[in-house]
Amino acid sequence: MSKKLLGLVLLSILLLHQAGNAQTSMINVYGRNSTILNGQWETIIDPFDVGIGWRAIYKDAKATGKTDFVEYSFEPANTLRVPGDFNSQLPELTYFESSVWYKKTFDVVPGKNERLFIHFGAVNYVADVYFNGKKLGRHEGGFTPFEFEVTDLVKEKDNSLIIRANSSRVKNGIPGSLFDWFNYGGITRDVHLVRTHRVFIDDYKIQLDPNDKGRITGYARLNSELAGKQIAVDIPELKIREKITTDSKGYAAISLKRNIKLWTPEQPKLYPIKLSIEGDSISDRIGFRTIKVNGSKILLNGKPVFLRGVNIHEEIPQKKARAYSEADAAVLMGWAKELGCNFVRLVHYPHNEYEIKLAEEKGLMVWEEIPVYQGIEFADPTVKDKAELMLKEVIKRDKNRCNVILWSIANETGPSKERDKTLIELAKEVKLLDPTRLVTAAFNNVSHHDGKMELKDSVMKYVDVIGVNEYMGWYTDWPSDPEKVEWLSQFNKPMIISEFGGEAVYNNKIDSAVKASAWSEEYMANIYIKQLKMFKTIPFLQGVCPWVLADFRSPYRMQSTYQKGWNRKGLLSDQGDKKKAWYIMKAWYEQLKN
Ligand code: GCU
Repeated sequence: MSKKLLGLVLLSILLLHQAGNAQTSMINVYGRNSTILNGQWETIIDPFDVGIGWRAIYKDAKATGKTDFVEYSFEPANTLRVPGDFNSQLPELTYFESSVWYKKTFDVVPGKNERLFIHFGAVNYVADVYFNGKKLGRHEGGFTPFEFEVTDLVKEKDNSLIIRANSSRVKNGIPGSLFDWFNYGGITRDVHLVRTHRVFIDDYKIQLDPNDKGRITGYARLNSELAGKQIAVDIPELKIREKITTDSKGYAAISLKRNIKLWTPEQPKLYPIKLSIEGDSISDRIGFRTIKVNGSKILLNGKPVFLRGVNIHEEIPQKKARAYSEADAAVLMGWAKELGCNFVRLVHYPHNEYEIKLAEEKGLMVWEEIPVYQGIEFADPTVKDKAELMLKEVIKRDKNRCNVILWSIANETGPSKERDKTLIELAKEVKLLDPTRLVTAAFNNVSHHDGKMELKDSVMKYVDVIGVNEYMGWYTDWPSDPEKVEWLSQFNKPMIISEFGGEAVYNNKIDSAVKASAWSEEYMANIYIKQLKMFKTIPFLQGVCPWVLADFRSPYRMQSTYQKGWNRKGLLSDQGDKKKAWYIMKAWYEQLKN
């Protein structure tokens, strides 16, 4: 094959790949010239998923005359709210795990010299996207953003955007087919129509130089490899109106000395910034801080910090629904602040941007995690690629959120040759994508023998901070008196107890004396009292995260008296009532603050 032909073939493969699967989407659509497409979208419920096959729902057929018969047509009367999981919107969809088809029609007045993108905050689990009858592509992964360009397809009136959202659990998915949370499906986050100029800023990172608290460093990168383009960087409070120029890769670096007020949980200072090129501008708010480890300490701005955390699922229990809005974020982060936290572990998947941004405003550091959760098909070669893409998507999206301090690559995966190899590669990938933050994972295989808890998992060597999930008093008995449990680590690294706790039904009065009387509040409170006694004895412990902020829904939890489809380990009930363990945790965090 001639060189020219080979080049053409390779180029077409690349373009096909990009067209078929969205490359990672542009950063910060909320700060751009964008229109939100939320609202009531027409829907067709497709339990047998025939719409992508012979029913061809994407063709959007309509009956024209009296004799036509079209069985699967979108009708104005049948709608669901976007964003929002479909399970909580119709009783018949409660345990539904297949396809719902969505359709949104809208007009667009295209500007001159403009590009248009449809950007999805998340669709769980697979999305097939069609625009004006053309297939734009597919995205797999229920918790990370993606987008497709529609510049050349858009028309002034009645643009038709159709999505197949399929929430089936898949064996070689991320997560796999079994997980302890509710499988909320659908278009679960905001959808934007984003307008940019022909040449625009696709990506940027602005942060404190990890080695110089008086220097702001970072970069801006264009969507195309154009040299000589001027990008304006404005940070008014720091008297910065800098012009930086792109190189042949469309990349421009930023490095500026300034006297900066650092972000801390107590004083979460954020600076409004604006990046612009030829009138196309992006606004954001940036906090400046450093995060490092030193031996078994975690250092925030050079000082040791103890993480007073809590685990949070992306769910509002009273609504029995996926959290998706600013108001929902305010509920969850408000509870965390009320508990006395300076840290939240957002489990087990990337949460929506409202939560991360509100946590940043409220002074809550964040552990973000991709759902490499328990039973993952590590032997399947596509699994690592899917996990890597999710890492790329979430790190690109949140790398300007200074409160994100930990990227977690896994939760409770069992050691094996394939698992070790995959996690080691993911840990290295995190460091390549973002060398300024810490990489972690949650392990539940701490070997315990004769009262000793020993950290020995070989993958722990490749993370900066070791997360340990342990349920002494619930899933396992206490190996000895809590104060006498000996924790041993061959790694000179910080450890976070990333999960601990037990279940109780709020206000459950049953006898707390006997283990069989689990699900009593006293029994759960007793676990917490013992855990806190043990924590005081662990020299390399740098943070704790009770499992879990609030009772949450899970098809795993069907014990018919106390659970009924809920995991009852919440410090709060499914109505937001505070259990006894809440007050124990809050009091402990209070005394830690002083
Ligand atoms: C595990 C897991 C959680 C789960 C919890 C539990 O450690 O990480 O996702 O909900 O324990 O069993 O309640």
